[in-house]
Amino acid sequence: MFNIIPQPTSILINRDKKGFTLHAGTIISPYPFVDEFISFVRKEFNKKIYVHEDTGEERSIILSVDESIESDEGYTIKCENRRVFINAKTETGLFYGLQTLKQMLLQTEGKLPYTEITDYPRFSYRGYMLDCGRYFYTVDEVKRIVDLMALHKLNVLHWHLTEDQGWRIEIKKYPLLTEKGSMRSHTNFNNKPHGGYYTQEDIKEIVKYCHERFIKVIPEFDIPGHSVAAISCYPYLSCLDRKLDVATHWGVKHDILCAGKETTYQFVYDVLDEMIELFPDKIIHIGGDEAVKMRWQECPLCQKVIKDNGLADVDALQIFFMNKVNDYLKSKGYASVMWSYDKIENSENLSPDIAWTVCGMGNDRELVENEIKRGRKLINTHCYPYYFDFPYGWNTLKKVCNDDGALTDNDEGTLGIEAQLWTEYVPDMKRLEFLTFPRLGAMAENAWAEKGYPTFSTFMHKAGDYCKLLDAYDVKYAPLKKACPSFIYKHASSLWFKRRVFHWEGLHNLIDDAKAKKEAEKLRKTVKDNF
Ligand code: ACM
Ligand code: ZN
Repeated sequence: MFNIIPQPTSILINRDKKGFTLHAGTIISPYPFVDEFISFVRKEFNKKIYVHEDTGEERSIILSVDESIESDEGYTIKCENRRVFINAKTETGLFYGLQTLKQMLLQTEGKLPYTEITDYPRFSYRGYMLDCGRYFYTVDEVKRIVDLMALHKLNVLHWHLTEDQGWRIEIKKYPLLTEKGSMRSHTNFNNKPHGGYYTQEDIKEIVKYCHERFIKVIPEFDIPGHSVAAISCYPYLSCLDRKLDVATHWGVKHDILCAGKETTYQFVYDVLDEMIELFPDKIIHIGGDEAVKMRWQECPLCQKVIKDNGLADVDALQIFFMNKVNDYLKSKGYASVMWSYDKIENSENLSPDIAWTVCGMGNDRELVENEIKRGRKLINTHCYPYYFDFPYGWNTLKKVCNDDGALTDNDEGTLGIEAQLWTEYVPDMKRLEFLTFPRLGAMAENAWAEKGYPTFSTFMHKAGDYCKLLDAYDVKYAPLKKACPSFIYKHASSLWFKRRVFHWEGLHNLIDDAKAKKEAEKLRKTVKDNF
């Protein structure tokens, strides 16, 4: 009878035994994270419940750490007369037990039947990627997203902090990054400046907030591409010392970090040093996506690195670059993740300890299986269906439900699943919530529940209760009719989206490439004259 999302491993209800009714004055065990549960009960049931160590004879919700439970994140719930017991191996599991209990209470108006639940996750990595580069989201907005992630038992915030269109993280050694690089003069054809950044104090506050909700934070420093904002502050980071503005239009840019200058590597290491201090979860995402290598082709310094290291071409140079950054992070005890946006040629040369967020079209089963054989860990972020910035006409709720979350047949080598929220067309929380929910419910179920959950029909069966849960948190989700669009709406929304992604950048790049070619010729001549 319970419609819990994500679906728990097992639920047993016994109608012959007495259950638990929520009363004012109920006592709950003292853990820092029960405060939010208490507020939820107050708001939804207008009842005050209290924290107390000694539950005595009172009606109580008793949370206990139980070492005998196998899963680190799993938990059990037992609702009996006057008592709810939540047991888990760790506090994380206790926290997840409370998330489930909230849904149970909502669905029974606080009158729980005798119930026993056992639950543990399918995947240890259940993430959400938030692109704060294209649009800046305030500290409070990020916290709200984190709250909603926790409600869905997600445990990784992948925080995309550096972009062509905006640099969002304060780096004390390079103050221009935020003074100048966090602001763009306009966005496409509007005339409004847009900007914002997180101070190091803001970042610490968000990381702490995430940790209190058992969410790890993986920041993304997207290199060598997607770096125009940084280049606009420090032109020497680019191949041709190009003077650029923070990007004002969407699309893939052709100016990327130069892989042939020591100063680039020094910059990258300096930024990473400060990131390491701010993000204690020991993993940093180093991007690697959409790194167009036209400038590297033209750049005498990049070409020199290719020659000196016996590399085949610019693609091999990117592998060289990513390996070098990964080595640096490893020397600091950190691991790295990068995008496998397209098929990465000669990926056997890419260090197998760089995990991949697998997102692009080129990532077929064979490629994935080869990488797993090499020992590479993978995270399923496939654009179909896990790019939630795509319209419901492309990634319908049904498509998310019916995806089995798997990259291979047996999940071996797959750490988990991550939903992606790129924000080119997501300027505010209203749009973000519309696109994220209810799809996130289905994604969370793919990541947490036993393989095979959900199907579209099991999810739709629960959708009414799920919407009530979202209502309790005032989430502005897409109505089910829009999330599962009709044939006409589906095609209309796809057309509308395609119209928007057809942007100005193509023409701009064409003109700019001709200019860059001339600059490169001049530089090559200077370099030749100097050596
Ligand atoms: C990506 O979609 N740029 C990883
Ligand atoms: Zn270069």
